[in-house]
Amino acid sequence: MKVLVTGGAGYIGSHVVLDLIEAGHEVVILDDMSLGCMENIHNQAEFIEGSTLDETMLDDVLSKNIDAVVHLAAFKAAGESMIHPEKYSQNNLNGATNLLNAMMKNDVKTFVFSSTAAVYGYPEYLPVDEAHPLKPINYYGFTKLSIEEMLKWYDQLKGLKFAALRYFNAAGYDVNGRVMGLEKSPQNLLPIVMEVATGQRNSLDIFGNDYKTKDGTGVRDYIHVNDLASAHVKALEYLQDNDSFTVNLATGEGYSVLDVIHEAEAVTGKKINYTIVDRRAGDPAELIATSNLAEELLDWEAKYSDLNTILKSMWNVYNQEENHD
Ligand code: UD1
Repeated sequence: MKVLVTGGAGYIGSHVVLDLIEAGHEVVILDDMSLGCMENIHNQAEFIEGSTLDETMLDDVLSKNIDAVVHLAAFKAAGESMIHPEKYSQNNLNGATNLLNAMMKNDVKTFVFSSTAAVYGYPEYLPVDEAHPLKPINYYGFTKLSIEEMLKWYDQLKGLKFAALRYFNAAGYDVNGRVMGLEKSPQNLLPIVMEVATGQRNSLDIFGNDYKTKDGTGVRDYIHVNDLASAHVKALEYLQDNDSFTVNLATGEGYSVLDVIHEAEAVTGKKINYTIVDRRAGDPAELIATSNLAEELLDWEAKYSDLNTILKSMWNVYNQEENHD
């Protein structure tokens, strides 16, 4: 298949592109490079620098025998989305709308969408499954949920076939070292821990140690980007003969902030200094999910998402001179 990957130079997108090419697909990357990394653009992919806000360009790209679209281009900082919702409306909502409309115009009917655990909001039970209520608590999650809703309507009205993949906490780097460019301005726990290990930061703040969890710190379900990537390829193939679907991509296993710090110390051989500070607004104590549906439908399983493999693959990238000058 000839597959357009929006956000294909980004952190998750660059891993998806690797797997698509390995599976024999032809890839066109569209990325505006606001968060993408030149170094991570696959040399066998065609690269177009541009934005999903450029409708003329989208129409042009989609008129060139594209069979399917994997849409990852979006802003994803939950905190920022509460301060600048308009940025998220424009980039995430308008971008997805333009893309879907250009697809319809050019009769491209297969769509794999990068969704998120943020569509659920605070977990009402654990592990979270796909039947859990959808009540986002940040604007970022709202934009992703709105796009999921739009996809259902386009399926019903226009015959779109879509896969909405709800990622839990994406982490790690390619286990074979093929993606070496660091994510731009990362704000999540694991990259911050890595920056403490390299000495780019002196220490990190732990947002609360009085949660009702095994050690009082927040527990999350970390999923390796290679595992996320393989699910995209399987989703694309599944949609060739089957109906649209929405699934979680997670492991069902939770690690606390202290688990992460201790394992990172073992992997890197460095001391990870930290300070306990107040809880961060909007953080649930624990968030873990089942991926039974993805396993069943796609014959997919997470292979690299144990904490040790995740952290080793990250240290391989962070522990390079050029990545922490
Ligand atoms: C965050 C977003 C979520 C988004 C996901 C992927 C929020 C509230 N949630 O998830 O919407 O889908 O990223 O981009 O922004 N922690 C610390 N110190 C730090 C950083 C994090 O203690 O400096 C803790 C957090 O309190 C949490 C855990 O580490 O318990 C993981 O945090 P993080 O990596 O930011 O991810 P989430 O907040 O789960």
